[in-house]
Amino acid sequence: MGDKSNARAQSIRALMQIERNNSYSNLVVNEFLKKHDFSKEDKGLFTKIVYGVIANKSFLLWVLKKYVKRPHKQQAWLKYTLMTSLYQIAFLDNVPDYAVVNEGVNFVKRYNYKKVSFVNAVLRNIVREKDEFFKVPTDDFLQYLSIRYSYPIWIVEEFSKVVSTNEQLESLLVAMNSSHKTTIRVNTLKNSKQDLLTNLREKGIDVATVDKCEDALVFNTSTPLQRIEELKSGKCFVQSLGSILVGEIANPKPKDVVLDMCAAPGTKTTHLAQLMNNVGKIYACDVHKHRVNLIKESCIQADAQIVEAIHLDSTKANSYFTKKFDLVLLDAPCSGLGVIANKPDIKWNKKKDDLKSITKLQTDLISNGIKLLKSKGTLIYSTCTLTKSENEDIVNAAIKKDNSISLKSERRILPDKENTDGFYIAEIQKK
Ligand SMILES: C[S@@+](CC[C@H](N)C(=O)[O-])C[C@H]1O[C@@H](n2cnc3c(N)ncnc32)[C@H](O)[C@@H]1O
Repeated sequence: MGDKSNARAQSIRALMQIERNNSYSNLVVNEFLKKHDFSKEDKGLFTKIVYGVIANKSFLLWVLKKYVKRPHKQQAWLKYTLMTSLYQIAFLDNVPDYAVVNEGVNFVKRYNYKKVSFVNAVLRNIVREKDEFFKVPTDDFLQYLSIRYSYPIWIVEEFSKVVSTNEQLESLLVAMNSSHKTTIRVNTLKNSKQDLLTNLREKGIDVATVDKCEDALVFNTSTPLQRIEELKSGKCFVQSLGSILVGEIANPKPKDVVLDMCAAPGTKTTHLAQLMNNVGKIYACDVHKHRVNLIKESCIQADAQIVEAIHLDSTKANSYFTKKFDLVLLDAPCSGLGVIANKPDIKWNKKKDDLKSITKLQTDLISNGIKLLKSKGTLIYSTCTLTKSENEDIVNAAIKKDNSISLKSERRILPDKENTDGFYIAEIQKK
């Protein structure tokens, strides 16, 4: 029998493909889900294993070192057979260990028969010693967190600067290792929140309103998004809570003139247009031409009619525009460390050195945006990261340089506190 619809075997193949082609895991996961005829349970298991192995990669390799020499250097099929098996034994309660061992051994049979008894022995030892895995030395606490929760040490150090206690840091790292509930934003240009709620509930979708976030709805159970017709017709959009709050804190009024400096694919632009009830004007810029087209497509889908999409490097916005703005939104390019829960690859793809060029760009963008504010105008600076150097440090340095502006509000959204992606939102006001 082949293994085409076997979730465990396919998770090994997916991980091999991600490594071989250096692909984004979400693209490969979606490709496999489309290609294979998994049952509903197997879809869940396949997705959990692929993301779980990526999220816990360095911990799994740390444990495997006790059983295999240089596990990260092994051939991909062997390495991922061991990692997916260990992940299931260590992290998944509802999968019997004997089934994991059998599947692992069966998979290896197809690659190299000579390795079968070796893999069998390693997996049996792993099952026998499963109570030992989590005994990571705690003498150096940051190092402990880095191993136990699989984060490069520099990320643990960066996050340690934004919390006050070891417990808070651990809680943050734990929260970013598991996905949170999906939220959507109602598009009030196309339907009311009440109508959307009623329609979704009539289809048996368990969805609820969210306190203190007017335009958000949250799915209480995992809901296959392809089932939701309202997403295709632009009546709502998948958007994380922090991202929706950016628009709500910006709170633009009809007739405002707005600059969205880094706008693609247009998620927040269309939210601003709906908050302005399609009255006023939004200039939505992006430095990448192909992404400017995404802004245009989002606006058509959302029926946002007051948006002009512009191909522009916004570090030069001040010389491009002659007018000043009531509201400038700078949803800055950033390291993305706040969205690790949904994109665990970020842990391994981002490097500490990347922060230098990113913070330079953020500094140039914010100083340009501030110059374009009208008197009493507001600049919203937002990112989907939690690092102080990309958030508070950028905003404070801008304020220190220019005494015509002041900080009106600042909010850091922590995934463990709010069960959503990490975000930072600052509101700067011009005198
Ligand atoms: C965080 S994303 C923006 C997301 C968008 N605001 C939304 O809600 O859909 C950052 C965007 O900044 C753009 N970008 C990067 N450097 C830029 C620059 N110098 N000028 C304008 N856009 C830039 C990137 O192409 C990317 O689309």
